[in-house]
Amino acid sequence: MRNDDDVRVGLLGFGTVGQGLVQGINLQINNISCRLGVSLKIQRALVQDTKKKRAVGLPELTTDARDILEDPEIDIVVEVMGGEQPAYAYTKQALRQRKQVVTANKLLLALHGPELKELARRNGTGLLYEGSVLGGIPILRTIQRGLCGDRVEEVKGIFNSTTNFILTRMYDLGEDYWTVLRLAQEAGYAEADPSMDVSGLDAACKLVILCRECFDLDIYLKDVTMSGIEHLDKWQIALEKGQGRIPKLIACAKPQKTEIRVGVEWLPDTDLLSRVSGVQNALSLRTLLAGELFWSGPGAGGLATGGAVLADIMEAAERVLMERDIGFLQAGR
Ligand SMILES: NC(=O)c1ccc[n+]([C@@H]2O[C@H](COP(=O)([O-])OP(=O)(O)OC[C@H]3O[C@@H](n4cnc5c(N)ncnc54)[C@H](OP(=O)(O)O)[C@@H]3O)[C@@H](O)[C@H]2O)c1
Repeated sequence: MRNDDDVRVGLLGFGTVGQGLVQGINLQINNISCRLGVSLKIQRALVQDTKKKRAVGLPELTTDARDILEDPEIDIVVEVMGGEQPAYAYTKQALRQRKQVVTANKLLLALHGPELKELARRNGTGLLYEGSVLGGIPILRTIQRGLCGDRVEEVKGIFNSTTNFILTRMYDLGEDYWTVLRLAQEAGYAEADPSMDVSGLDAACKLVILCRECFDLDIYLKDVTMSGIEHLDKWQIALEKGQGRIPKLIACAKPQKTEIRVGVEWLPDTDLLSRVSGVQNALSLRTLLAGELFWSGPGAGGLATGGAVLADIMEAAERVLMERDIGFLQAGR
């Protein structure tokens, strides 16, 4: 039943993350209503093919973006479709309509993040993107709030699940790159076109977003020195293994533009990052006051990323409710 107090959400995309998000909401529906004091309703989702079989159902799917972007009842637009276009055009349109926007799209943010944040600011609305970096590891809020009294001096980590899965199997089982890549694709860990992962581009996008948060740097993908894992063969790994060195695709940055890179590093087994295996991700921050900090956890997956997106939606919903309260107060003057 319709209730005017509900906070209404429109999804741009209803794939792995979109469905994980709805599963997450369904699992905690009462909890969410208690915390917000109103219900959170997914109004409808934009997809390419409404007939496609999906693990999770929604009452309404559409192939027309205007059903979301121009629906005055929708308070929050969640962009989980991926890619640069049309996500870029739709995100700008949603911000211009003064809707709160949540996105998990690292490519979009790496390419256009500063412009989109500025557009949100000018329109007096919000752009939140916790799900775009390290999936289920809640790191952006930690940096923005938990570390706002400290200064980050180095960012280092394993930011891509597909490549970590491939490198772990090549190292542990001596398998070759193409065999493990095929296996990763069959298991759903790698896309049919894995180039964004194996080239290091996916990790570079996340590093760009993190550098902007940690160092307040105006940086873009062109500033990242980047190489991937395609050149590695099992013989080289066997040779290094004999010397006690473990290959990991490491993203690393310091507060200078010249030291931002993604590439394979050979780590000793004493390094915490060397023990992060399979589809896990990890982040190590060195800060002025706290020293070394370390997080690890699921860097991808529908439920884990959906949970990060839901955290953003909850924050956006609180802003929507606060604006409604201000509107009521002003109307009563
Ligand atoms: N998967 C993860 O674990 C993960 C983790 C962190 C961040 N992310 C980010 O989250 C975003 C979504 O990823 P995902 O894995 O959920 O992608 P996905 O499974 O491929 O889902 C994409 C969804 O968007 C829809 N879509 C794509 N292009 C469209 C277009 N031009 N018009 C209308 N609908 C369109 C698709 O419709 P159909 O279903 O009809 O094809 C699908 O529902 C990406 O930016 C990704 O980088 C993903």
